[in-house]
Amino acid sequence: MAMFSRFKKPEDGVPQRPATMAPVTKPLAAPVAAAAPEPPKAKPKPVAAPAAPTAKAVPVAADKDRKRRERLQDLKVELHKRLLDSLNLAALENAPEASLRAEIAAIAGEALDEMSIVLNKEDRSTINQELYDEVMGLGPLEPLLKDDTINDILVNGPQQIFIERDGRLELSDVTFKDERHLLRIIDKIVSAVGRRVDESNPYVDARLSDGSRFNAMVPPIAVDGSLVSIRKFKKEKLAIDDLVKFGAFTEEMAAYLQAAVACRLNVIVSGGTGSGKTTTLNALSSFIDNSERILTIEDTAELQLQQIHVGRMESRPANVEGKGAVTQRDCLRNALRMRPDRIIVGETRGEEVIDMLQAMNTGHDGSMTTIHANSARDACSRLENMISMSGIEMPIKAVRAQIASAVNLIVQASRLQDGSRRMVSITEVTGMEGEVISMQEIFRYERLGLEPNGKIIGRFNATGVRSHFSERFKQWGYVLPAEIFDPIP
Ligand SMILES: Nc1ncnc2c1ncn2[C@@H]1O[C@H](COP(=O)(O)OP(=O)(O)OP(=O)(O)O)[C@@H](O)[C@H]1O
Ligand SMILES: [Mg+2]
Repeated sequence: MAMFSRFKKPEDGVPQRPATMAPVTKPLAAPVAAAAPEPPKAKPKPVAAPAAPTAKAVPVAADKDRKRRERLQDLKVELHKRLLDSLNLAALENAPEASLRAEIAAIAGEALDEMSIVLNKEDRSTINQELYDEVMGLGPLEPLLKDDTINDILVNGPQQIFIERDGRLELSDVTFKDERHLLRIIDKIVSAVGRRVDESNPYVDARLSDGSRFNAMVPPIAVDGSLVSIRKFKKEKLAIDDLVKFGAFTEEMAAYLQAAVACRLNVIVSGGTGSGKTTTLNALSSFIDNSERILTIEDTAELQLQQIHVGRMESRPANVEGKGAVTQRDCLRNALRMRPDRIIVGETRGEEVIDMLQAMNTGHDGSMTTIHANSARDACSRLENMISMSGIEMPIKAVRAQIASAVNLIVQASRLQDGSRRMVSITEVTGMEGEVISMQEIFRYERLGLEPNGKIIGRFNATGVRSHFSERFKQWGYVLPAEIFDPIP
């Protein structure tokens, strides 16, 4: 954060160009040219990337290894059954981990003796670990959840688990025994949060105990076996500095965004699924002053604000009897009575849009949210659609005027096809022209080509348009060097 506080006007009130800023001549050339073509390859653990750490699979011995795993899998099912018979599950809750592991290893050992099966040391420790994960955790998902290099886990039926690592999807070599096994784990997750999933309630959202976001859909709606998606909760959220380092945007864009957030522009982070919207929103929130009272509203609490004065809310779906739902809109309406300085809605996706726009228009400026859309223009159409879907009858021009006066800035997040995530556009909403919302793009990501290895070559550039909010920035004491708005040819 300190890194970007340098654009703030000094206390004595004399606007100054910060000494550490890039040279006046060619302000963008150096950092951008260096940063742009490089996708975020400076990932923390590149060494761990190639082989899935969960299985001891070696590509050459793949077939042999698969057979071995199948054999162990069958054995594990049998041992698990016996374990469930002999373990006192209620007593397990409070038992220390070491004694539990010892207990499991002992029962498994006895059962193996009974079946006259001899395992080598490695297989035995694998099976003991997997049994422990079955009994106490989420079975085959457990090692994937523990692996910090994995962002997303996507299960397409029992035999296919994809993982996302470094922005790329890959098939893992972890599988479930069968659909029943998968269903049992799903059931374990959702029943822990007091919900149910079955043929009559075939899909469910939940949060894992580590904060990860979980969604499951079971047959018959899921045709080839249950579908599960997990967005891993990151304890260490990417901060502005990290995102700049990974090439998600430039320092100049960060300086602009800092001014925008600090000067209380209403910001929408737009993007496709998994494009980095929540991450961006979280990072942007770091520009909010510590003295402000912030209320956050989410369907699944993911945001981690650094400020001291934060009230967090999480909506709740209806229970099994269809009662007790508290929607984002309910939270938002209540939040307006809780004297917030700013309101942050994790994702606007429905009827809460009306209250969100109203909040932005009436005294809670500096509010932020994300929206699922492919461009700034598309984000506005999405807002329009949400308003009309919520049953409010208003002429389209009035709807657009409401949007235009509520929203000041739209930043577009995107996951490019090489897996890199970038802020591909920063666009200001400047008002209305006739029936159309007028906007101007200030920064954009320019694609220049493709490396042979599939990596995208590109750079961030200014469009040359001066900010509509320059005067406001100045009034609030944020002095952005004019050069950051100059395009590189
Ligand atoms: N610039 C980035 N560089 C590398 N990883 C990133 C970047 N931005 C986000 N990520 C990672 O990508 C994953 C998805 O990010 P995030 O949750 O912010 O996306 P989202 O658009 O909010 O997704 P959803 O649509 O599912 O809500 C996270 O694991 C996050 O840590
Ligand atoms: Mg999100």
